[in-house]
Formats: sequence, C-alpha cells, structure tokens
Amino acid sequence: MAQFYPEEIIQEVRANNDIVEIISDYVKLKRSGNTLKGLCPFHREKTPSFSVSPDKQLFHCFGCGVGGTVINFIMMIENLDFVEAIKFLAERARMTLPEGDFHGDHTKRYKQKQLILKINVEAAKFYYKNLLSHEGEIARKYLAKRRIKRKTITNFGLGYALNSWDSLLQYLLSKGYTIEEILSTGLIINNKGKSHYDRFRNRIIFPIIDLRGNVVGFGGRVLDDSLPKYLNSPETIVFNKSNTVYGMNFAKNAINNELIIVEGYMDVISLHQNGIINTVASLGTALTEEQAKIIKKYCQKAIIAYDADTAGQAATIRGMDILSKVGCKVNVLTLPEGKDPDEFIRIRGVERFQKTLKESKNLVEYKIELLKQKYDIDDIQQKVEFINEMAEIFAKIENSIECDAYVQKIAEETNINAQAIFAEMKKIKYRNNRKNNKSLEKINKNVNFVAGQTNANTNSKANIRLLNAEKMLINVLCYDKYVFNKVKELIQPSDFYNALHQKVASIIYHLREQGETIDPTEIVSKFENGEVSIVTSILHLDTNFEDNLKAAYELIDSINKEKNIQKIKSSLEEGNVEKLNTLLIEYKRK
Ligand code: GTP
Ligand code: MN
Repeated sequence: MAQFYPEEIIQEVRANNDIVEIISDYVKLKRSGNTLKGLCPFHREKTPSFSVSPDKQLFHCFGCGVGGTVINFIMMIENLDFVEAIKFLAERARMTLPEGDFHGDHTKRYKQKQLILKINVEAAKFYYKNLLSHEGEIARKYLAKRRIKRKTITNFGLGYALNSWDSLLQYLLSKGYTIEEILSTGLIINNKGKSHYDRFRNRIIFPIIDLRGNVVGFGGRVLDDSLPKYLNSPETIVFNKSNTVYGMNFAKNAINNELIIVEGYMDVISLHQNGIINTVASLGTALTEEQAKIIKKYCQKAIIAYDADTAGQAATIRGMDILSKVGCKVNVLTLPEGKDPDEFIRIRGVERFQKTLKESKNLVEYKIELLKQKYDIDDIQQKVEFINEMAEIFAKIENSIECDAYVQKIAEETNINAQAIFAEMKKIKYRNNRKNNKSLEKINKNVNFVAGQTNANTNSKANIRLLNAEKMLINVLCYDKYVFNKVKELIQPSDFYNALHQKVASIIYHLREQGETIDPTEIVSKFENGEVSIVTSILHLDTNFEDNLKAAYELIDSINKEKNIQKIKSSLEEGNVEKLNTLLIEYKRK
C-alpha cells in the first residue's frame, strides 16, 4: 500500500481509534458474544451480518464479504483515500501527525497542544522550586514523614502548591502567558467570570508525565486529613485520563516482563523508591480498556496490587477482566487487610514485598480464594453452592492437567469427592460446548461463503474444503502461539495451496519468529485494498475449537490430503500421466 506516513504513525492512529467506537458513529451495533453485530452499511440487508471484533479491532461483513481495519472502514464509508483516512482519524483522536503535510486546523491544534505542554513544564518547575523554598518546609516535612527521599522527589518532579490563591497564576502572567492561555491548561479556575485563582493550593504536587516525557497534567494531595484528599487536572487537549497510566514513563524502561498495577500515586512512588520500578497506577479511576491496552504493550503479565478492602476487591476483579480481555496475563497480589503497597513496604520492608509478589495468585486461584471467603463450607447447602461455582471456574480451564490439579486440591481441602466435582464440571462443559459447536457451524457456513466467492471458477467441494482448512489453520496459527510452536515444522507457508494464504502465513511465521505478539490489524494493513477483505475474513473468525492443537493437526492432515487431490485432478485435466503416477503413489503412502 502506498504509504505516506511511517508505520508507527499508522499504528498509533489505529491504536487511538477504537474500531467499535468509530463504527458506532455509523452503524447501530449490538453485542453478540465476543463481537458486535449490526446492519451492514455497504450492502442492503434486513438481518445483521456485519460484525465488529473489539479484541481483534477488525470488522467483517458475512453478507457482502467486505472487511478490514478501522482505517479501511473510514476509507470506504467516507469515501477517502488512505492518507485522507489517516488524517480524518488522527484529527478525531486529537493526535498530532508529523508536521509538513497538514495545514489550517491541524496546525492550530498542534500549536495549542505545544503551548499547554510548555506552560505545564513552567508550572512543574514552579511547584518544584516552591517545595525547596522556605515556604515549602511544611510540604518537605510531610514527604519526610512519608519516607520520601530527596532523590525520589527530584525523580518524580514532586512539588508544592503554595498556600495562596493565585501564586501560580501571577507567576505565569509574569512569564508573559495570557489568562486565556493559562486557562486552557486547567491550572487555574474562573470564578464566575470575575476573577481567577489557582486550582491547586497548599497541596503536594505530582506531575503526570506521558510516554513521550510530556507533562500532561497534575495530581495534588492535601497535607492533612482534609477533603478532597486528591485533586487532578481536568482533561485538556493533551490530557486524556482514560488513556494515561501514571508511572508508565519510568516503568516502560524496566526490563522485567511484568508490571505491577497499584491504585495510587504514593504506591508507585514508594515502590519505585524501593527499586521496584515496574509499577504503574491508573489515576484513581477504575482501570479502563485503553489503559489495559497500553499496559499490555509493555508487559506479558500484570500483577494487580490494590487495597485489600471490599472496594479494592471489586476493582481487582474488574481490572483482571479488563486485562484478560485485552490478552494480558494477570495475577493478584493480596495484601493484609487495610494495607496498600506503600504502607506494606514501609512497615514490612521490600524483601517481604518481593516475597508476596512471588506468591501472587492467578485468576483461578484468586477466584477460589474469594469463593472460600464467600461460603461457609461447614454448612452443607453452602458447600453445594460453593462446589457449583467452583465447577464453573474449573470448566473454563483449558489445560486439563492444570484443571485436574485444582480439582484434586479443592477436593482435599473441602473433603468433597473429586469425582463429584468432575461430574458437575462435565455438565457445565457439555453445555458450553454445545454453544461453541453452534458458533462453529456458523463459521463454517461463513467461510464456505467467502471461499466460494473468492474462488468462483474452481469452486469444487474439495477445493472449498481445502481453502476452509487453510483459513482455519491460519487463524489458529495467528492467535495461538503454543500451537504455532508445536506445528511450525509440519507445515511451511509455501505448503499452503492458495497464494494469498501463503502470503498471510508467511507474515505470521515472520512475526512469530521475531517473537512478537501478533496484532491482526498489522497483518491486514500489509495487503492491497483488493485483498484486505479476504484476509480480514480469515483473521476475524473466532474458531472456538475445544483443543486448538488437536484441531491444527487435523487441519494440516486434511490440507495435505486435499492438496494432493487437487494436484491429481489438475494433472488428470492436463493429461500428465507421469505426474499423475507419482502423485498417486504419494497419496497412497499417506
Ligand atoms: P495516600 O493516602 O497519600 O497514601 O494516598 P494513596 O495514593 O494511597 O491513595 P488512595 O488509596 O486513598 O487512593 C488511590 C488513588 O485514588 C489516589 O492516588 C488518587 O489518584 C485517587 N484518589 C483518592 N482520593 C481521591 C479524591 O478525593 N479525589 C480524586 N480525584 N482522586 C482521589
Ligand atoms: Mn496510601
């Protein structure tokens, strides 16, 4: 594809424009399993066959076959070329594209952003100087009480907003900024149109720094027990709370593949001071999907370390669900009641914290823990309910050895016959499987349709079977790293029968060999407009095999078999007896 912008920019445009959000502006979408469905805007239909996958960030219409990334969608629906679509989406996500190729509104917005960032830096310096000044003594004392070292203050650029109505305002005015400009940063507040005053007064200041090192906003904490304990800058054109992760600018440099997610500024700072720099916080709000996506970019495993209270537990489960949803492995660290990581490390020391980190529980273990707290298993009725809920959890564990181990453990602990738990689990699995099989049937129908469409001239039944098998195998190889590693020696990209499939497979092999996690939108974007829809139709599938590895072996078998049949058929048509003979011998051998 002729590209005007570098790949990173295009990726950023995709990352900043959630496909569901964008398409919802044009199509009424309703959730249906893992995807959202609606009436296709590209062809006339009465029943919805247009499907959008939030996980894969792809759309695909089973009716007319179109599909692609959010960029392809905008190109089609707004009738734009590639560059125009990028501009359209960048604008919508308040992104600044590299300079030199845009004008008017873009430039104005870019300049506004730069100005806010510049004023923020001035303000951060002002707050920092205040902290070190005579008037800052009270704040320094507070930080000392909380065991924050001087080096940490400098590292995080902590500061102090004086106990005054407008010291920052006056300072910034003296630097030549206008009221209008200062207002746009959110650092001052307009008092009923009459006067202006500082948002942060008599507070410890925490600059919020984005991944590029820009100061995008501030948090401020009181020095005593007054309320509100924390204040944050309002959202501005440079500060979007739902996609900002506090501490990520430091944590991204930790080589570790794990990120610890805590609730507050002080937790991040305190762990950081103790050498645990792979720690971030979600700015007080519940973890959002955007934040989870950013987190996933930088780690393979997240460890949630929220307060142990009930609110913290609820936030933990929500956080785990959101992180798992974006494909991040999650563990939970349980701290004693009432302690947050900052207090824990201060009282018990960093070694103890490291130890609890190692003991953090995975999703299954954590859920079991909560169920144990919820039910009194000495009560028979409660014990039954406990087992039922437990079986639901076990039924979702894919690895049967792992599942077995949990069942045995719980059976021992609760004195319930393991066979009884297995029996419950089987019932649940059977129920879930029936659901899966139904969706598999549907997928098959859809794949048949696309296969038939794209290979209209050679559309024999065997050929469709071959193409379907290849599509499903590609899908599994794309999304299941484990299966990929198991079967990669058995089939090479060049072994695929269909040329387009060869191309998709070789991209997947290439990305996997580089050890990269696979983003399906990145694969789709490597194809020309004419191919985008077909590639999307493959990657958009949710195959839902009960056992991906087994399915992959079977698919490879059937590909080999069908491919031989195809070859035999064409040599028959060609009348090439010699070739036919060798093929038949080969076929019999298999
Ligand atoms: P310390 O009491 O200083 O240890 O604070 P903490 O960092 O442990 O904070 P806490 O657990 O009370 O809250 C977690 C996070 O929620 C904070 O870091 C803030 O980002 C946010 N938060 C807490 N209280 C408020 C509040 O009153 N207003 C707002 N906007 N955010 C808050
Ligand atoms: Mn705290």
